[in-house]
Amino acid sequence: MKKKDDIKATNIVWHSTHVERWEREEILKQQGCTIWFTGLPSSGKSTTSFTLEHELIKRGYLAYVLDGDNVRHGLNSNLGFSAEDREENIRRIGEVAKLFADSGVIVMTSFISPYRKDRDLARKLHNEAGLPFVEVFVDTPVEVCEERDPKGLYRKARRGEIKGFTGIDDPYEVPLDPEIVINTRDCTPEECVEQILPYLSSRGLIKPNLRVASIR
Ligand code: ADX
Repeated sequence: MKKKDDIKATNIVWHSTHVERWEREEILKQQGCTIWFTGLPSSGKSTTSFTLEHELIKRGYLAYVLDGDNVRHGLNSNLGFSAEDREENIRRIGEVAKLFADSGVIVMTSFISPYRKDRDLARKLHNEAGLPFVEVFVDTPVEVCEERDPKGLYRKARRGEIKGFTGIDDPYEVPLDPEIVINTRDCTPEECVEQILPYLSSRGLIKPNLRVASIR
């Protein structure tokens, strides 16, 4: 959590918008929300969230993935992997996701987000803003993640070439009460998405399957 001393923005005044959230949502014919994927490196967060994004777009929803590796190429390129930097990484993404959701987009975040308190802070931000927040725990055992290792980072960490690698010598705090748990070991990305869609539907965030035929 940001400490009081960290806050450097002073003499700023909140400027109220002339437009209500529901007016944007009426244009988009959908409700903005955040679907927060968390799990170990190579657990399948990005694959699942990009597959979900594709499926939502096919169904006519405006959806967007904020992906850890991608965001660290730009907005968060000044952050490393210390506990402090990971906290700041997740704090920023919680804020950015909230803005996307407020704009009416179905936003998916795909970050390890290893610390429970940082994920809870993102949830709190959304709750306070009246925006739905859905935590998806990608519960893939570390042995499976390490065997996949598409980027070769577990191997590097085992050789001591990366210090503080999540799952090897850095902690991952398992979610205690996520809305959804998926296990990518036993399911294809499409099957994982099929587990998420009914939940979104039950929350009224999407309608029953309405495909837009022109998009593949
Ligand atoms: S988080 O812990 O701050 O949430 P984030 O999801 O943004 O992490 O970034 C994780 C990605 O950074 C991994 O997919 C991996 O490619 C890369 N990475 C580089 N160093 C590390 C490390 N020490 N621990 C975990 N991931 C790392």
